Order: sequence, then C-alpha cells, then structure tokens
Amino acid sequence: MSVRVTLPTVEDTHAFGRRLAGVLRAGDLLLLTGPLGAGKTALTRGLGAGLGVRGDVTSPTFVIARVHRPDPARGGTVALVHADAYRLGDAADPRAEIDDLDLDASVDASVTVVEWGEGLVEQLVDTHLRVRIDRRDDDTRVVELEPVGGDWADRLTALG
Ligand SMILES: Nc1ncnc2c1ncn2[C@@H]1O[C@H](COP(=O)(O)OP(=O)(O)OP(=O)(O)O)[C@@H](O)[C@H]1O
Ligand SMILES: [Mg+2]
Repeated sequence: MSVRVTLPTVEDTHAFGRRLAGVLRAGDLLLLTGPLGAGKTALTRGLGAGLGVRGDVTSPTFVIARVHRPDPARGGTVALVHADAYRLGDAADPRAEIDDLDLDASVDASVTVVEWGEGLVEQLVDTHLRVRIDRRDDDTRVVELEPVGGDWADRLTALG
C-alpha cells in the first residue's frame, strides 16, 4: 500500500507536511528521496510547523543535521531532527560520517527526517516511512508515501 498525492504549489507541500505531522510521534524515521529541488526541505518545513518546533527549517550549507526543539507555545511536544546527507555523497565512508551525527542517540525521543539518506540511515530503527517527491514537467510535485514495516500503513490510512 502506498499513498500518492499531487502538490501543485509549495504552499500545498507545506500544508501536506503539516497534515502528515499529525500522524507522527517520537521514534519515527522519515526517509525523503527525490531529485535536487524536488521539495524535500519544503515538506520538512511543513512537518516542523505541524510539530510546533522552534527555528527555521532550512537547507544546511555546512551543518548536516539540526535539532528543532518543540515549542510548547505552539503545541510542540517532540523535537524534529532534520538531516541532509547530500554532502556526504563524496565522503570516503558516508556511513561513518552518519555515525558521527549520533542520530541513534536522539531517534527514540524525536521525529527524524533525513534527506538523501537512502542506504545510510535505515538501520536506525526497524521501521520507517519512505517519502518520494518528484517534479513533473508542469512543475507540480507528486509525493508518494511508502510504509516500511510497523504501523505506518494504518497511520497513512488515518491520514486520509
Ligand atoms: N509544489 C511544490 N512543492 C515544493 N516545492 C515547490 C513546489 N513548487 C515549487 N517549489 C519550489 O521548489 C523548490 C524546492 O526546494 P527544496 O529545497 O525544498 O528542495 P529539496 O528537495 O530539499 O532539494 P535538495 O535536494 O537540494 O535539498 C523551492 O524553491 C520551492 O519554492
Ligand atoms: Mg533539501
């Protein structure tokens, strides 16, 4: 089972991120895939808004992982850890670089979202949600959510 949604504008992508945040909880891992400029960070921004976390979600230039703490004033209860492994593509041992981020130390208590993390972070937890974003010729985006284990399929059903 997978869910496919068309997102005509960046605002729609934000809104979808906010909606998806509604079914997330501590311990979740989301693997974001899709080409450069697809909208992975834009979607993560919506997730951050939905989770009520502090700080702007951006594309890091040097930092490859950032912790956004929950803001109780915005209803936040769980941190968002946002990592972007794109710059690890050239590393001699990307897996060792990922280990250095200590994502395993925060994964249980946070929602962890990783861009370009395929093949690098799946072992952090035993289930995850794959989120594939593609850009069509007319510039609209198509997001496909694919549950990998756990209760993700039920949660996607709840998403409607
Ligand atoms: N429907 C849409 N959804 C998301 N982004 C869109 C959409 N339409 C246009 N955009 C634009 O596309 C760009 C998406 O950039 P974003 O940084 O989110 O991509 P990314 O997948 O994170 O890229 P990278 O792999 O470089 O990190 C933004 O400039 C955004 O405004
Ligand atoms: Mg990005």
